[in-house]
Amino acid sequence: MSENLIIAIDGPAGSGKSTTARLLAQRLGFLYIDTGAMYRAITYSAITNDILENKEAIVKFTKESNLSLKYNGDTKVFLNEVEITDEIRSPLVNSKVSDISKIIEVREELVAKQRLMGQQGNCVMEGRDIGTVVFPNASVKIFLTASIDKRVDRRLKEFEDNGKKVFYDDVKENLVNRDIIDSTRDVSPLAKAEDAVEIDTSFLSIDEQVTEILEIIRNFQTSTK
Ligand code: DC
Repeated sequence: MSENLIIAIDGPAGSGKSTTARLLAQRLGFLYIDTGAMYRAITYSAITNDILENKEAIVKFTKESNLSLKYNGDTKVFLNEVEITDEIRSPLVNSKVSDISKIIEVREELVAKQRLMGQQGNCVMEGRDIGTVVFPNASVKIFLTASIDKRVDRRLKEFEDNGKKVFYDDVKENLVNRDIIDSTRDVSPLAKAEDAVEIDTSFLSIDEQVTEILEIIRNFQTSTK
């Protein structure tokens, strides 16, 4: 499918995917592609255009809009040239994104885009279905997990760092709901690819996670030399 090295990082929300994937990409000099941001961007637009309940309009919008991720240390998200990087992280987007991600035509459109992005160079791509559907031939596949309490703590800290006040129970409820919808949907559910390496990050620091994955990538590179 691609000559590039693709590192697929999948796992549930709060498993440490984004931070780990970003740091890995930095260390390796690879592109970093946050596919969750793409589903979030479509969700945000569905909210602002008031078409959340109109599947056809959402699909049409997804096909016609110009969605781009610009990465320069941090990912900036643009939809039709308007930056929506911060807007896509709101609690409202969190609560709706899993429902939008269930729409098969939205997934087809975004997966096609992700495959094109992955052909632009070596990359670290993170999401829910990268190792299973988007790049089933990825060079290295990692599946990150963590206990629900750790995941809630991490999300709470992210909100706090961004000056947003949220409650533990609300964050927990959102994560549990998203886990259920993301892992039980019919189309490309959140799942560990058979050949993915599973890492439980509950008691690992980000540095430890990155080091462990770098080791896996080095072993892969040595084995294919
Ligand atoms: O990684 P995240 O929390 O930003 O992802 C937001 C939502 O997007 C997640 O709850 C499910 C959806 N998603 C998906 O269905 N497939 C992906 N590859 C990435 C995200």
